[in-house]
Amino acid sequence: MGRVALIGAGTMGAGIAQICAVAGNDVALFDVDSATLAKAFASTEFSLGKFVSKGRLTQAYADDALARIVPADSITTAAMGADIVIEAVVERLDVKQAILAEAKEATGPNTIFGTNTSQLSVTAIGSALGAASNRIVGMHFFNPPALMPLVELVAGLDTSDETLAWAEAFATGLGKETVICRKDSPGFLTSRISAIVRLECLRMLEEELASPADIDKALKLGLNFPMGPLELGDFNGLDTYLHALEGLERSFGERYRPTTTLKNLVAAGRLGRKTGHGIYRYDEAGKRVEEDRDA
Ligand SMILES: NC(=O)c1ccc[n+]([C@@H]2O[C@H](COP(=O)([O-])OP(=O)(O)OC[C@H]3O[C@@H](n4cnc5c(N)ncnc54)[C@H](O)[C@@H]3O)[C@@H](O)[C@H]2O)c1
Repeated sequence: MGRVALIGAGTMGAGIAQICAVAGNDVALFDVDSATLAKAFASTEFSLGKFVSKGRLTQAYADDALARIVPADSITTAAMGADIVIEAVVERLDVKQAILAEAKEATGPNTIFGTNTSQLSVTAIGSALGAASNRIVGMHFFNPPALMPLVELVAGLDTSDETLAWAEAFATGLGKETVICRKDSPGFLTSRISAIVRLECLRMLEEELASPADIDKALKLGLNFPMGPLELGDFNGLDTYLHALEGLERSFGERYRPTTTLKNLVAAGRLGRKTGHGIYRYDEAGKRVEEDRDA
């Protein structure tokens, strides 16, 4: 098994570190925020415990997996000797570029660079690697990484076939299924689709066709969505969703234009579960308390 450097230990980074370790890799985990890094170890231990209680891992295996993840105190320390550096930091091009450029300096000529971006250009992120831009690959995991079966692989303009093949074998080794988006296109396959579905739900809400709860229920019970797109928007943050739509609108034009209601919700600070109010309203424990008909 190999060595993985995981940069960013938030929601996605912690989960990706966990599945890499469970698959037998040694993982060096770094986050610029030490509290987040500590929290990642606690949440990984909790998540592994759930696998043990369901009989899917033994306690000894889970303990070994947790021990294979070590905290790193810098990007350089994390990246040294890594077969693959995966970045899962904030969705900002400049931050991702700076991290990969720094990591490259600490790695050898064969290290692969994976980015977990949801919709930014893999080519633009990889440009920070200079002559090594043939070793960038989009590795889009889904939340929560330990449970979601797919990794969407994305080829940047310079990504070599060898890099893509390496990433595919690596993801398969993590027990994941893969799809390959062969052209670096905003939103790839999945984010592009999910954005348009959520946007259409928001449009129906704006047209007052139905309550938010009924729109969500229609998609869950009629179309087999595990979660309604509106409740998912509240869950992930409506600001995040607006930001994603604005990016897709810049690339694809009007069909991704955010609705006025969404802009107003964000302007009013109704960001979803994290602020206690979005399309729905939540109590302090994050439980939905009522249906909002005025969204
Ligand atoms: N949350 C999701 O559902 C989801 C799904 C797929 C992909 N993604 C993508 O994964 C990436 C991370 O998303 P997330 O939800 O885990 O975000 P998050 O906010 O939970 O975590 C991001 C982490 O990056 C860290 N960070 C910021 N700057 C850093 C730096 N310079 N060096 C090291 N760490 C730094 C932050 O401290 C934070 O802990 C984003 O690109 C996002 O688009 C998110």
